[in-house]
Amino acid sequence: MSVINPKYMIKMEEQLVFSKSKHDEINQQLDMERIPNHIAIIMDGNGRWAQKRHLPRVAGHKQGMQTVKKITIAASELGVKVLSLYAFSTENWKRPSSEVSYLMQLPVRFFSTFVPDLVKHNVKVTVMGDITQLPEATQKAVKDAMADTAHCTGMILNFALNYGSRDEITQAAKKIAEDVQNGNLALADIDEASFGKYLMSTQLGQFANPDLLIRTSGEERISNFMLWQIAYSELEFVPEHWPDFDEDSLRSAIIAYQGRHRRFGGLKNQ
Ligand code: FPP
Repeated sequence: MSVINPKYMIKMEEQLVFSKSKHDEINQQLDMERIPNHIAIIMDGNGRWAQKRHLPRVAGHKQGMQTVKKITIAASELGVKVLSLYAFSTENWKRPSSEVSYLMQLPVRFFSTFVPDLVKHNVKVTVMGDITQLPEATQKAVKDAMADTAHCTGMILNFALNYGSRDEITQAAKKIAEDVQNGNLALADIDEASFGKYLMSTQLGQFANPDLLIRTSGEERISNFMLWQIAYSELEFVPEHWPDFDEDSLRSAIIAYQGRHRRFGGLKNQ
C-alpha cells in the first residue's frame, strides 16, 4: 500500500485552499449585469499542450474537445447569448492529413455525446464556414446537431468550421455583385448594415459582432477570424493553452472585458 508523505498532503491542501480563494475572488469581481452578449474564442495551443506532455498533437485536440464542453456550459450558465468557436480554418487543410482526419472526426464524437446536454441547457448549434467540403460523416453530424437543437432558444453555440474571414468577405462581395447585376440590389443600398447581411454571421442576428474575442496560448494575432465582425470587439490574449482554459479563465477574461471602456470611436461616457 502506498502512503502519501504528510508533507505533500499539506502542499495539496494549500493548493486547494489557494484555488478556492482564487475562485471566490474571481466570482466576487464578476459583474453578472455586464456579461458580454457575444464571446468569440480562437482555441489555440492544443498541439503545444500535448507536446509538453510528450503526447501526440491529436491528444491536445481530444482534450480541447472536453474544454469545448466545459466552456459551452459555463458560458451558457453565465448568460452569454452567442459563443463563437474557431474550430477549423480554411488554412488548417495545410496540416498533415492524419491531423486533418482527426480534426474532422471531432465534431462527430462531440455531437454524438453532447447533444443531450446542449438541449438540456437550451443551447442551439449554428455553423459558419463551407461545410460542403467536409467529409460526409462530419457534415451529417453537424447538420443533425443543428436540426436537433433548432428549437433551443438559449445561447447559440456557433462553430466556425472550414471558415476563413477573407473567404467570407470575398463570397459576400461576389453575392452582392450578382444581386446588383440581377437588379435585386441597388448600388445606393450597399452600406455596412446591408453588407453585414451577406456575411455568414448574419444568422446571429443582433449579436453578430463579438463583444469579446479571446485567444488562448499567448499568441497575439487574429488568424483570419471574423475580421469584419471584430471591428470594435475587446481583445483578450491569455497564456493558457486551450485544454487548460477553464471556467475561471473564462470568468477572468470577462472581468478584464468589464474593466475596459468601450467607446466605439466616440468619447468616454458619451
Ligand atoms: C489550434 O491549436 C486548434 C485547432 C486548430 C483545432 C481546435 C479544435 C478543438 C479545440 C476541438 C474542437 C472540437 C469540436 C467539437 C469541433 P493548435 O493545434 O494550432 O496548437 P499549437 O499552436 O500549439 O500547435
